[in-house]
Amino acid sequence: MAEPLLEARGVIKRFGHVQALQGADFAAYAGEVVALIGDNGAGKSTLVGVLSGVLAPDGGEILLDGAPVRFGGPQDARRAGVETVYQDLSLAQDLDAPANLYLGRELVRKGVLGRLGVLDRSAMRRDAVRAFAELGVTLKDPTVPVAALSGGQRQSVAVARAVAFANRVVFLDEPTAALGVVQRARVLETVRRVADRGIGVVLISHNMPEVLSVADRVEVLRLGRRVASLRAADTSIEELVGAMTGSLDRADLPSPQEPEMQAEVRAESRPEQRLEPQAEPQPSDEEVR
Ligand SMILES: Nc1ncnc2c1ncn2[C@@H]1O[C@H](COP(=O)(O)OP(=O)(O)O)[C@@H](O)[C@H]1O
Ligand SMILES: [Mg+2]
Repeated sequence: MAEPLLEARGVIKRFGHVQALQGADFAAYAGEVVALIGDNGAGKSTLVGVLSGVLAPDGGEILLDGAPVRFGGPQDARRAGVETVYQDLSLAQDLDAPANLYLGRELVRKGVLGRLGVLDRSAMRRDAVRAFAELGVTLKDPTVPVAALSGGQRQSVAVARAVAFANRVVFLDEPTAALGVVQRARVLETVRRVADRGIGVVLISHNMPEVLSVADRVEVLRLGRRVASLRAADTSIEELVGAMTGSLDRADLPSPQEPEMQAEVRAESRPEQRLEPQAEPQPSDEEVR
């Protein structure tokens, strides 16, 4: 397989006493939909945060096109073509959908003398309506603030914004969670289409049938580590759930001629190593920029 577009190697991230990522690996490839799955608290959102420049890792490496990279913030990641739909969507609630689509990169029309920049609102509106239509969303009035839209429409605004600008990798953290059946199908079609453009799409989802229907590959995170990377065509819901929960560890135990790995697998499934929050997070531990 070609070199990954974006890769995490041994990434560590702590929040106070909680070690959310304990040497996590991850890889996204061009033209591929990779699902990132794992139980609640496995570290999925934290990994997305680190790979999209929102969280500074405490250790490990991030590689973009095979070269180590350090994102100083989400704008660095965006400049590198890495777009993200966060689980909380992070939309500007008081702005309308087209304004949200272009937030921070408004289309500017050259003014007279080519110096004075003017926001090209009609072009923004036209592009936005088209981007939403692709996701099966009809905005009756594109000028209403995002706060007045339904949860599903808001989610579609966030997805449209990310896929419109991604040219390398797009992270979608639970993009279909608030959607109805029709919009969900449209978002998944869009996910496929974006990958077919050669972009690496990372889909975080709890919905196993959805994962198996749209993903090419599945990476499983458990207790802050990657525990499996499976081709979607060769796996099953049972295997995915087993990897997520650790219940398949016995079947995964390597043969006795690999004693070191065996010890590692056993250590990993010891209950005291489970990642439980040990203390309330202190506000100062937050590194969300
Ligand atoms: N900002 C934060 N402050 C403190 N702990 C956090 C923070 N974000 C995540 N965690 C903890 O890190 C672990 C991984 O969380 P998260 O990445 O959100 O998992 P997932 O997205 O897989 O459900 C959890 O134990 C969670 O409580
Ligand atoms: Mg999460």
